[in-house]
Amino acid sequence: MKTKVLITGGTGYIGSHTAVTLIEAGYEVILIDNLSNSSENVVSRIGTITKVKPELEVIDLAKMEQCATVFKRHQDAKAIIHFAALKAVGESVKKPLEYYSNNIGSLTNTLICAKKNGIDKFIFSSSATVFGEPDSIPITEDALRKRPFSPYGNSKKVSEEIMEDLVASESAVSITSLRYFNPIGAHDSGELGELPSGVPNNLMPYITQTATGIREKLWVYGDDYPTRDGIPIRDYIHVVDLAEAHLSAMERLLKEENEEPMEVFNLGSGVGYSVMEVIHAFETTTGQKLNYEITHRRNGDVPQLVASSELAYKKLDWKPKRNLSEMVGSAWAWEKKIRNTKN
Ligand code: NAD
Ligand code: WQD
Repeated sequence: MKTKVLITGGTGYIGSHTAVTLIEAGYEVILIDNLSNSSENVVSRIGTITKVKPELEVIDLAKMEQCATVFKRHQDAKAIIHFAALKAVGESVKKPLEYYSNNIGSLTNTLICAKKNGIDKFIFSSSATVFGEPDSIPITEDALRKRPFSPYGNSKKVSEEIMEDLVASESAVSITSLRYFNPIGAHDSGELGELPSGVPNNLMPYITQTATGIREKLWVYGDDYPTRDGIPIRDYIHVVDLAEAHLSAMERLLKEENEEPMEVFNLGSGVGYSVMEVIHAFETTTGQKLNYEITHRRNGDVPQLVASSELAYKKLDWKPKRNLSEMVGSAWAWEKKIRNTKN
């Protein structure tokens, strides 16, 4: 019998890559998603890669009745990986209540349903955004969580606080909060990758869409930051490395190797690249010239976010294996594939 794992947000960008990694490691995965930012086609794409087409439950986790029904059906699951959330930073500033009710509502409903059905291992998608503007780099897990700049970011900070309150109130649940830095890249098969709707906010899809000509020009937001080239620095991590970190974190919980009822790990590569360095890596790896121009700073951007992931390397027995060239190369292969598919 395979161990069953529920993956909420399972048809999304990081959830779908994690589903592949778990299936390949021998788990049965159930995807749960309301398809608000993903498509049902992802299920067949996962099937093409793994030769196993996982079950998809299309429900809104922010609606308790739907959540309760699905969890009852899958009460033999041993763990939950909770990716489901709305994630567009700018949109969250315009629609804060939508973001809080979706992201906090789906978290609390999922935790309530997990408890009712005796599923006691829970992994949460957190973000480097919980640090706001950090005091020092690289950022360790114990760095102060400051008020993030957006309601989206704050929903992640509040989510971590809710889970801290939960583990303080009862011993039955074990939680791991994984704080991703900047996930980019796509699956090597070309079957899975990031599919932003509308104009991308994030750098990587903006780069690949500019290279295909969908966007006229990439705007580089600011060159007057206190960094080596004046351009903001981020810690980019390949989405497949991230997926592998989820497998390690989940197995740590299943083997009950966690040392605290709630553990927190930063997930990055530990290396920071400026936007200009990413552009150059893209041009060198793909041979595509990018049309870009430097403009003013974007509101809410901080100069530098680089993780110390030493704790994850040690406790999760995990290390990112894929370099920047593999990240940008796979993102480009994915972009070309989806454009051809649509044409
Ligand atoms: P995504 O939008 O591709 O995936 C999230 C999925 O959750 C989508 O498929 C969406 O349809 C689903 N969803 C949203 N609300 C739901 C609800 N109420 N009920 C059921 N399904 C719902 O995003 P992603 O990039 O894969 O991110 C996954 C998680 O990681 C999110 O929690 C996000 O906040 C977090 N995260 C992402 C990044 C990043 O840069 N991509 C960085 C840090 C943290
Ligand atoms: C990266 C760098 C931009 C677009 C966001 C969220 C964070 C987390 C990851 C979820 C920055 C620059 C970007 C463009 C640019 N998500 N840039 N031109 O802002 O580090 O983090 O995604 O939790 O919460 O805030 O990522 O990809 O938007 O930007 O110059 O068109 O690229 O200024 O320096 P960010 P990003």
